[in-house]
Amino acid sequence: MTDSLEKIAKYIVSDGKGILAADESNPTCTKRFDSIGVESTEDNRRDYRELLFSADGMEGNIGGVILYDETIRQNSSDGTKLIDIISANGALPGIKVDKGLEVINDQNETITKGLEDLDVRCKEYNEMGAKFTKWRSVINIGDSIPSYECINQNMDILAKYAKIAQNNNMVPIVEPEVLINGVHDIDRAHEVSTACLSVLFEELEKKNVLIEGCILKPSMVTPGMDSEHTSTVEKVARMTIDCLKNNVPDSLPGITFLSGGQTELEATEHLNAMNQIGGFQWKLSFSYGRALQQSALKAWQGLSSNKEAAQQAFSHRAKMNKLAALGQWNKELETK
Ligand code: 13P
Repeated sequence: MTDSLEKIAKYIVSDGKGILAADESNPTCTKRFDSIGVESTEDNRRDYRELLFSADGMEGNIGGVILYDETIRQNSSDGTKLIDIISANGALPGIKVDKGLEVINDQNETITKGLEDLDVRCKEYNEMGAKFTKWRSVINIGDSIPSYECINQNMDILAKYAKIAQNNNMVPIVEPEVLINGVHDIDRAHEVSTACLSVLFEELEKKNVLIEGCILKPSMVTPGMDSEHTSTVEKVARMTIDCLKNNVPDSLPGITFLSGGQTELEATEHLNAMNQIGGFQWKLSFSYGRALQQSALKAWQGLSSNKEAAQQAFSHRAKMNKLAALGQWNKELETK
């Protein structure tokens, strides 16, 4: 179904499909499991991911699944490789390849580690069947941050990563996450996202990264979580589209948002509003972690007897987000 970088990227976001981000590192997965009182063992992590990957709602709604190193090597309870379950349901397996954050200055700004041995790791993942990769950079907003140093270094690293992934026949998802934490208003979020995206696309072009073979995973432009200024769905949608249109080339096949602390409903509603407004060339879709999994995790509670309920919860969100990626979602559909 896929071979070239362009085809892989196009497939992932075709017909309203999006990405399931199931690449929580073990410490992050432990945090998620703690919230439902489940121990984060290798078997529990496997059972939970197997439940998601084999849910009915995968087919036709999910075009790619981002995995963590442990998961790409795991087999299901009956011995089938988890990546084969993903493929059988019409999605492409991908892999998180960054190795987390490192502080670079006394403002606690970070860069993302993992470039040194990236080429070797990419070769192995590609042989294992991975078709795409993900690398997350983190940009914090505060009174005097982000600094130019932080933006420039992170965007340079993202572009270097993207080139290495493409050299290994895998589509890079480039994720410059502008964190939602903070008291800033939506204009400040727009300003910072603009600064990041303009440097990012300069760097990608400088390093000869094939834009047609990339996917961008940005944050939506929203006020900070603790901002005193709230915003409407319409405003978030318009400010996000504006920021993207000013900085992202039309030749990019897909933009798949992270959910970054939005509720499941907010993430769906914002995506739908953008697609209803339209007027852009790229597919605008989702690459949600929490906004695809929250209800499923709650329904599961670590019990095999809750497997079906958890699968239904996940399938529902997958369907709702596909409709949002097509601009065809509405609130009434949530209760059907
Ligand atoms: P959230 O959608 O939960 O933000 O996760 C997406 C992700 O992969 C962050 O790197």
